[in-house]
Amino acid sequence: MPRPITATISLPSLRHNLGVVSHQLNSISSQNNRKRPFVWAVIKANAYGHGIANAVRAFSQADGLAMLDLNEAIQCRELGWQGPILMLEGFFQPSDIALYERYKLDATLHCAEQLLMLERTACRQPLNAYIKLDTGMNRLGFEPADFPQAWEHALRLRQQGKLAQMGKMTHFAQADEVSPYTDEQLSVYQRVTHQISGPDSVCNSAATLTPAVWLSLPDTSPQWVRPGICLYGSTPFTYQNAQSIGLRPSMTLRSELISVRRVETGEGVGYGQMFKASQPMMVGIVACGYADGYPRHATTGTPVVVSGVRTRLLGRVSMDMLAVDLTGVSNPAVGNPVVLWGEDGPSVDEVAQAAGTIGYELLCAVAPRVARIVVESELKKDGQ
Ligand SMILES: Cc1ncc(COP(=O)(O)O)c(C=O)c1O
Repeated sequence: MPRPITATISLPSLRHNLGVVSHQLNSISSQNNRKRPFVWAVIKANAYGHGIANAVRAFSQADGLAMLDLNEAIQCRELGWQGPILMLEGFFQPSDIALYERYKLDATLHCAEQLLMLERTACRQPLNAYIKLDTGMNRLGFEPADFPQAWEHALRLRQQGKLAQMGKMTHFAQADEVSPYTDEQLSVYQRVTHQISGPDSVCNSAATLTPAVWLSLPDTSPQWVRPGICLYGSTPFTYQNAQSIGLRPSMTLRSELISVRRVETGEGVGYGQMFKASQPMMVGIVACGYADGYPRHATTGTPVVVSGVRTRLLGRVSMDMLAVDLTGVSNPAVGNPVVLWGEDGPSVDEVAQAAGTIGYELLCAVAPRVARIVVESELKKDGQ
């Protein structure tokens, strides 16, 4: 018998979440009498832990896919994806450029070194590229003062037949919060790029789901948004949960009780005895630990569902196991189902918060040893 821990990936939920984004883009665009932005579904980091092949199937209605690993991009092409692919960090070395040509990958160009690599590489086919402006994230992109020169350089590369379509992009540092910084970044973007024609791409999930951001860009050029985390059912916001946005969990981490024990008053549970019973209680041991990707920093009280009852984690998470409070679970027994996060369990965001991290990290961190189960289509309800 395999260890009873699984991560179920729901393709219908992934499709549903893309639908939430598309629906909002469609309705707000038509209310404002403008063209709807195109959507690059961001599938980097193995589609936020969901598997590239699953993402390619679930996001077949996206206008494009965005990622940063060449092998993942090649996998998308081999799986039959024919739409645009944007590489969010661009190429890393000159030899990558031939693969960009061969697999028709669009490059992000964020630094002078990449422009030079392209200049010095013999190209057979021009690449589409987005020139990235750093509007204040201080991560990737040309400084505002350097952007016009970088754009001119890219135009020369286009004349030399190395570039085809050229667009502009940036990335927000605080779109997940209520912060004036997004407006500040937007005004830098507009100041630097307003006289440069070509597609724009500025929005991650949080900005995509904040229509004022993409509505503030002129409608004269096509706009591409780049939602990632919201497609996987986790909130992009610090102030709003996923359910209230209409998102569905796309990954459910399940396991089972592998031991049930009574703990007496004053006894401790697990490493460091971090939890001490204040009265006699039943404790369950779950086959899930940090080597499965469950966060070790989750503390006593982190929500978990056992046999349909919402209860809590107790003490420190071990490498392969964790302990849960069975108070309120009737007749607890080895084999009882446990939902660590996802459908019928706590949200991944609740677990992340209790561990001092974000849903992104948990989804990406589920270990290869956890068996994946893929749900292809909506499960039929009884009698249907
Ligand atoms: C350049 C870029 N665009 C889009 C995204 C998607 O962001 P999110 O998952 O917050 O929607 C990311 C993720 O970090 C990114 O780096």
